[in-house]
Amino acid sequence: MESMSKNDTVRLRKRHIGPSCKLFFKNDPIKIVRAEGQYMYDEKGQQYLDCINNVAHVGHCHPTVVQAGIDQMSVLNTNSRFLHDNLVICAKRLTSLFPEPLSVCFFVNSGSEANDLALRLARAHTKFNDVITLDHAYHGHVTSLIDISPYKFNLPGGGGKPEHVHVAACPDVYRGKYRDVDSSLDELGVKYANDVKEIIEKAKAGGRNIGAFIAESLQSCGGQVILPPGYLKQVYSHVRGAGGVCIADEVQVGFGRVGKHWWAFQLQGEDVIPDIVTLGKPMGNGHPVAAVITTPAIAQSFANTGMEYFNTYGGNPVSCAIACAVLDTIEQDCLRDKSARVGNHLMNCLRQLMDKHPIIGDIRGVGLFVGIDLVRDRESRKPATAEAQHVISRLKEEQILLSADGPYSNVLKIKPPLVFNQDNADRLVTLLDEVLTEIADSKLYADEHEQLERPGSVSPSETRKIYEIDPMAGQPNGKRKKLIEDIEAVKL
Ligand SMILES: Cc1ncc(COP(=O)(O)O)c(C=O)c1O
Repeated sequence: MESMSKNDTVRLRKRHIGPSCKLFFKNDPIKIVRAEGQYMYDEKGQQYLDCINNVAHVGHCHPTVVQAGIDQMSVLNTNSRFLHDNLVICAKRLTSLFPEPLSVCFFVNSGSEANDLALRLARAHTKFNDVITLDHAYHGHVTSLIDISPYKFNLPGGGGKPEHVHVAACPDVYRGKYRDVDSSLDELGVKYANDVKEIIEKAKAGGRNIGAFIAESLQSCGGQVILPPGYLKQVYSHVRGAGGVCIADEVQVGFGRVGKHWWAFQLQGEDVIPDIVTLGKPMGNGHPVAAVITTPAIAQSFANTGMEYFNTYGGNPVSCAIACAVLDTIEQDCLRDKSARVGNHLMNCLRQLMDKHPIIGDIRGVGLFVGIDLVRDRESRKPATAEAQHVISRLKEEQILLSADGPYSNVLKIKPPLVFNQDNADRLVTLLDEVLTEIADSKLYADEHEQLERPGSVSPSETRKIYEIDPMAGQPNGKRKKLIEDIEAVKL
């Protein structure tokens, strides 16, 4: 394929790509031309340490995965109406990683397709339409999922919450409705689960029935949120008691990212078993393949509707060969162990940084899914949104790619390919230390710019005001302009 100058790429993108498709670092976007392992390279050969791409799960362009695609592509690719071994082998291998009765697999092409199908399965099985979702959740870009994604429907361009959708409090024990300063973690699990119970009761009183509860097993867009103990077990019991089914969205957090388990819902205990699990991103290591795993009973209810499920590309032999190669690689390269080991090391180093930098309000994580919640004040936990954007921008200058998310875009998200190693973690921590020191030295978070009393209680429109806070006021113009530009950094 033709290669062109970066300026030409930008020009053509502006002309031919819809403006709602955003770039990372839009004022100085990076043109990546190749990648390997945990590193990406721009057109000048500059190397970047990738802490963003959880999709390149086993490492960018892993030779085993690439070869599996090439081999199958050169023999056959076709749809799932023909018998093919790759489809059934991949389904058998995937389902073997789940507890009973999760033994049936549907293959699709993206996380959005997986979640959309999960909703259809739930509705076919329960005959109920209503869905409970968590505040700040994102489940995909198609219409049915924008409807259940407060991360989209509550923000600019969103149409607000539809009637059939009920939003439960995000069980964020640091920044949510109930906090770790008021109750023990076990109590918080009960409190947040009771929130769901109340929603079910209220819906029932209003003549509505809940068909499904959907949640990420660790909430990523919500700000790297770790669910309190006992939460899913109690929620699942409330939802099932009301005739609904429980969907675990593992599109971001599945496939061993959490280290000791294959799936993040397993962190909540062996007796926590969803009715439907959705998989995506890491499943193909960059190739578009995704899946829905469910029970024979739910799959049968879906079949009983009489409508065929056909998906042209879902489960094609190439995608299944690639997904199997990803599973092989996770096992052969011991990536779950590695995620646990390097993740622990990283968390320990970050906790040490916390002693030095009051701007770090909370460090949370499991395996290589880590969040750093930046605050202007540890007591009030006011989010340090602009500072987070500044960190990202400065780390980019140091060739480290990181993103921020959460309702206030103040949580630094670390979710690298699982080949990320201890040296990479050390480098990240050293540079983070330097940048946070710069911020402290330049007194970026002065009181006069604080606008919010209790961040957990602000409305989405008030939330947007946070983006307007300019902690660089009084700083040299160049620096200040740069920060304001960087506040536009892309989420997800
Ligand atoms: C938790 C979660 N679910 C679903 C999706 C949708 O996946 P896709 O973009 O592959 O359609 C995403 C994408 O970011 C996600 O983060």
